[in-house]
Amino acid sequence: MSEVRQSVESSEPVHNGHSGRGSDAGGDGHGGHGSYAVSPEEMRRSLLIHDRVFEHSHQEIGGWLEVGREHRVLDAGCGVGGMTAVFTQLAGSVEAIDLDKQNVAETWTRVNATAGPQNVRVATGDLTELAYEDATFDLVWCSRVIHHVPDMVAAVSELARVTCPGGTVAIREGGFPFRVLPDDIGLGERWLEDRLSAAGVGRFGRPREPREGDVPYPFGWSQLLADAGLVDIQAKTFGFDSLSPLLADEEAWVTHHWRRWLTRADWRALLRPDDIEVMQQLLDPDSPHHLFRRTDLHLRAGLTVYRGRRPSERGIRSNA
Ligand SMILES: C[S@@+](CC[C@H](N)C(=O)[O-])C[C@H]1O[C@@H](n2cnc3c(N)ncnc32)[C@H](O)[C@@H]1O
Repeated sequence: MSEVRQSVESSEPVHNGHSGRGSDAGGDGHGGHGSYAVSPEEMRRSLLIHDRVFEHSHQEIGGWLEVGREHRVLDAGCGVGGMTAVFTQLAGSVEAIDLDKQNVAETWTRVNATAGPQNVRVATGDLTELAYEDATFDLVWCSRVIHHVPDMVAAVSELARVTCPGGTVAIREGGFPFRVLPDDIGLGERWLEDRLSAAGVGRFGRPREPREGDVPYPFGWSQLLADAGLVDIQAKTFGFDSLSPLLADEEAWVTHHWRRWLTRADWRALLRPDDIEVMQQLLDPDSPHHLFRRTDLHLRAGLTVYRGRRPSERGIRSNA
């Protein structure tokens, strides 16, 4: 196969005034949560660290999706290209799109640093309104984006539309948030991370500010795939485990997330003052309690992927 890599960036991002969530943040779309906006730079940094930490998990996911040279793959909402790189190694051809131009550029850089004579194209695009013919891809992958779009059933139906009959739509959503500490760290009250999680549940679990076009969908991810007309739905959670001493990227990942709890006033407001004090000590490299002095860390997480198969034409809902 000859090398045909092509970057196609439209002069203007296509999202202006279209997608309710995700357009202003340009990152993971948390900008759609009003006061919880994350700057595009902060989000991009988070995505880059995430992709380095979970590189092996991404490879495992590529294996589970059984991607081969005969397959055409779409990475919808590619972020900074962690999975695009995996598909580049495995598939016959890859298209990757994202609303955010800078993320598209990062993905392109990533793809070019990835070995493999694949046909890859990276462009700005909106997954709720894909610029592809029906039945273009064998696999459509969409990781951590669907929960940001205003109408999730319509969005997955759009992914299914561009998937060949018999092909696969796979979304990564849900999973287990990371933990790193033992329950008792000998400082403050036990179960600090449980309280952080609970506060996080409060953050994401509270009703979003209603936005024009939002369609409530109070059901699970497997149901979402079924409601978009997919069949043979399966789920798999890819576990991640790393023990002390953590790798530099893993430490950066933990630090990045914990710092955000303290530096963002809206998140910090959800924490107990005594927990804030403990976290400050854990994050202070000069403190005897600095997190990475510990020899008992266990960084663990679970990445969940749901996949479904597109049946015959009759099974697919129209997005119109
Ligand atoms: C949390 S990031 C996930 C990136 C990557 N898929 C991953 O799992 O690491 C969400 C990404 O989706 C993009 N995005 C949000 N809404 C989108 C839409 N309607 N169409 C295409 N991309 C979108 C954002 O720009 C961002 O890069």
